[in-house]
Amino acid sequence: MAKMIVVYKSRYGFTDKYAHWIAQETGADLAEAGKIKAEDLQNYDVVIYGGGLYAGGVNGISLITKAFSSIADKVLYLFTVGAADVCDKENINNIRHSLTKVLTPDMMNKIKIFHFRGGIDYPRLSSIHRIMMAAMVKTIKKKGAAELNNEEKMMLDTYGQRVDFTDRAAIAGMIDDLKLLQ
Ligand SMILES: Cc1cc2nc3c(=O)[nH]c(=O)nc-3n(C[C@H](O)[C@H](O)[C@H](O)COP(=O)(O)O)c2cc1C
Repeated sequence: MAKMIVVYKSRYGFTDKYAHWIAQETGADLAEAGKIKAEDLQNYDVVIYGGGLYAGGVNGISLITKAFSSIADKVLYLFTVGAADVCDKENINNIRHSLTKVLTPDMMNKIKIFHFRGGIDYPRLSSIHRIMMAAMVKTIKKKGAAELNNEEKMMLDTYGQRVDFTDRAAIAGMIDDLKLLQ
């Protein structure tokens, strides 16, 4: 049976939820990115990495990109967790485009990538994140209503609130895929 691990980095708990759900459904080991060394990944056949999206970047992804040459023989998965609606093709295209800035074409080909929707918890944001979101909202507000895309509309609608779009059912496709390896 393939030995699997889910490694994740979560700032406000949304990615944490998906990581736990995936580990529960597959029996995979679970580890936070900061608490595991790249060498430890050698003990596994399947490595699943999950991180929250911050300004297009995946939180903690350097663990995977730095270790890539030593884990390229394994089955690799990546899941991103962001506030944007992943049923919207434009949002997926934006996330994929951002990923090409940190993942080489080799990595993009090799890693199976999934996108899940998290949420945003404004009352709990760190001061730097609060400032970043305020700046983004200020820029969006300067646009005319007709110019706004769905993600920008969602940002204005949810600004300042706590919203949680996490959905356990969203992992079904990934779980089916992983079960074929077991
Ligand atoms: C400063 C900042 C930037 C963000 N950038 C993005 C983004 O580019 N795309 C997105 O979908 N969500 C973005 N988000 C929302 C987070 O990805 C979302 O809150 C996610 O669920 C966080 O997961 P975590 O709590 O596991 O870290 C951003 C949030 C903050 C605070």
